[in-house]
Amino acid sequence: MTPSRLHLLIDTDPGVDDALAILMAHAQAEVAALTVAAGNVGLAHTVANALKLVEHAGAATPVHAGCATPLVLPAADAAFVHGSDGFGDVGYVPASTRASAEHAANAIVRLARERPGELTLVALAPLTNLALALRLDPALPTRIRRLVVMGGAVTGRGNFERVPTEFNIGFDPEAAHVVFANWPQFELVDWEACVRHALPFARFDALLAGAGERARFYAAISAKARAFNAANGRGGMVVADALAMAVALEPALVRRVERRHVGIELAGTLTRGATVVDWEGRNGQAPNASIVLEVDQARFEALVARGLGLAQAT
Ligand code: BDR
Ligand code: CA
Repeated sequence: MTPSRLHLLIDTDPGVDDALAILMAHAQAEVAALTVAAGNVGLAHTVANALKLVEHAGAATPVHAGCATPLVLPAADAAFVHGSDGFGDVGYVPASTRASAEHAANAIVRLARERPGELTLVALAPLTNLALALRLDPALPTRIRRLVVMGGAVTGRGNFERVPTEFNIGFDPEAAHVVFANWPQFELVDWEACVRHALPFARFDALLAGAGERARFYAAISAKARAFNAANGRGGMVVADALAMAVALEPALVRRVERRHVGIELAGTLTRGATVVDWEGRNGQAPNASIVLEVDQARFEALVARGLGLAQAT
């Protein structure tokens, strides 16, 4: 049976753009759980941040702590963008709630079994938890309605220390390989699309000037990341996970998409973690990814506004 309201399961490493995505999700969907990985910052911070977001959303969404490290090799975090606590080091008062005792990977497997065909899984973090869940339950893709992944740089203009690589994939390439090689069909929102769909700074600032508590909280935790975006010559605030969430929430806002096979480079000295797209259909492998290339920017911004507690885009 098709549920009338969207039901989401969000794997995340909050992170400033994860935060916006999670607020957007709670504004208009049912969120079954947040499963949390290390990534932008260490696991203790990403879990605390997830709990704080649930509090701000006025929800009771369970939060499950997952993997504290990548599957194979250590990787550097992104604290230089998000702040050392992942939320701009504003010293927020921690939520009074706690994470569930169930590991994130187990929670993904259980929820998919309990609610077959119902959940849209939105992966906003390194894919460590999801790879583990897939190893625990190889039939997981048959139980998930849609998988939307924020990750990759489909023409090699990444944001990671290895140039063609994007952070979520570069942080844990082996996990990304497990997911990309075993999930028959998923939607991919890559870094380059997120840069094209940055929120112009004037627009971003206008949204954050909205009167409510959520907008104020978000303005505070995103200030450091906004300064980083401005200092690094970006055309606006890149809120990657928010774009992926918009695609999950409102698939009709996608304007251009291409189905291609995407593999993960695991060995290259300069390219480990790169998403290799078979644009010309040369490798004989069936497309596994619907690569989102363009969305309706106005509709995206309207979803952001709603997530921040504003009735409509200002
Ligand atoms: C991705 O990496 C993280 O830093 C962000 O939260 C986003 O998920 C963008 O490359
Ligand atoms: Ca993220």
